[in-house]
Amino acid sequence: MKLSLDSRGLTEVRTDALIVGRHSGEPKLSPALAALDKQLGGLLGKVMTAERFEGKPGQVSQIHTEGRLPATRVLVAGLGSAKGDAEAVRRAASTASRRARDLGAKSAAGYLAAAGLSPRARAQATVEGSMLGTYRFDKYLKEKSPKSLDAFAVVEPERRSQDAAEAGMRAGGIWAAATCLARDLVNEPANVVTPAYLAKRAQEIARSGRLGLKVLEREDCHKLGMGAYVGVAQGSLEPPKFIHLTYRPKQRARKRVVVIGKGITFDSGGLDLKPADGMYRMKDDMSGAAAVLGLFSALPKLALPVEVHGLIAATENMPSGTAQRPGDIVRAMNGLTIEIGNTDAEGRLTLADALAYADKEIKPDEMVDLATLTGAIVVALGMGLSGVFVTDDGLAERVLGAAETAGENMWRMPLHDEYKDGIKSDIADLNNISSQRGGGAIVAGLFMRDFTGGRPWAHLDIAGTAFTEREVPLGPKGATGVGVRTLLAYLHALAGKR
Ligand code: BES
Ligand code: MN
Ligand code: ZN
Repeated sequence: MKLSLDSRGLTEVRTDALIVGRHSGEPKLSPALAALDKQLGGLLGKVMTAERFEGKPGQVSQIHTEGRLPATRVLVAGLGSAKGDAEAVRRAASTASRRARDLGAKSAAGYLAAAGLSPRARAQATVEGSMLGTYRFDKYLKEKSPKSLDAFAVVEPERRSQDAAEAGMRAGGIWAAATCLARDLVNEPANVVTPAYLAKRAQEIARSGRLGLKVLEREDCHKLGMGAYVGVAQGSLEPPKFIHLTYRPKQRARKRVVVIGKGITFDSGGLDLKPADGMYRMKDDMSGAAAVLGLFSALPKLALPVEVHGLIAATENMPSGTAQRPGDIVRAMNGLTIEIGNTDAEGRLTLADALAYADKEIKPDEMVDLATLTGAIVVALGMGLSGVFVTDDGLAERVLGAAETAGENMWRMPLHDEYKDGIKSDIADLNNISSQRGGGAIVAGLFMRDFTGGRPWAHLDIAGTAFTEREVPLGPKGATGVGVRTLLAYLHALAGKR
């Protein structure tokens, strides 16, 4: 999608679909809508009345201008009543952009002036909504839809707001493209996205962005003592790849952070094999890794004064004659031994070594991981919220604040110490599953905490939110790209920049 800024007045904008926002509970038309309505001889107002357009989120009214305006169509999109609601702008831009596309528009222009939002935030949210809403994964279809929105303009007639709008538009484009990159990686099937494929993509991202990249092979990981990670990988014919990306700012870094993504390219469960229903979607078990790669595709374009390391302990989890057995004992990089209570609790094993590696080799100020870790978080929070486990209240505030900024719904969960009893083993330091019932997402968090070396750490369990079986406000069925924009907002906040 080609992005641009249109500095003309609304009645001058030339486009296939002019999208204009309207709050609910406002009896009079805004000056912008009134000007359009006047050119259209009052038709816009009549259509809105006839369709009972109230400005509710998700509502769209449309008319063809029949040559009375340079814009071929006008779409009025509901913004709801809340002030400063960037998510309302994203959703309005998304819904209206989809509608425009389905009407055959090739270009659209958006003026979604929500009350209480800065011109920059408004432009960014508008572009995010349009790009995310019209995302499609159709590369394997013979009959692709010919309908596509190829160009989008942010309308900002106000002279003194145009620089800010331009910056917001650029940021929105970068954030949305990073999210779409993550979506593509998750939507691709597991016969394409192998650990080696993730390493190859990391290499492309590193090359084009001049980032640091180290890919550790199985032997390297073994030598470093990553027995937990290597143990998960031993059942698969696909060689594991431990990916370490580095973004170093040109200026002095204010902070050093590590971002870790769970990178199980397919989770069959291993010898503790999943039933067919539970296994079907397990290509999405690398959604955390996809978020990390999405983030690193954006970092070179943003020049934030934060040193960021991205880690992905990529592997498949497969059953075979060489696979890890239930009851095996492995030793992680920090020296702790783990009894394998269940080979399907593999994510925490790979993340344990990634965390220990971060603690020992990178020594960050704070660490964040994203993982499709437990079915239990889906039971606890459903498909609409990611669970956030944090060992440090300051970090919790930053991560949850970032999620709010990004419009991604997250909820803090407790690392309840008493449940640690459940993951004791008689013959090893830890067991990878609990002997007690319930609280599975918490147990997984407690398990991983033992590998953080006491550094401030946030763990995002995205098992319920990484993939959706129905269309959502900001995208179609399939991968959501969750986490990418929250991470970007978090790093912006750390950098003291927005
Ligand atoms: N990748 C799964 C978690 C998952 C479940 C993600 C559903 C997305 C949707 C994870 O590796 C897993 O299998 N977890 C087990 C842990 C159990 C064996 C302790 C689970 O949640 O059932
Ligand atoms: Mn599993
Ligand atoms: Zn898994």
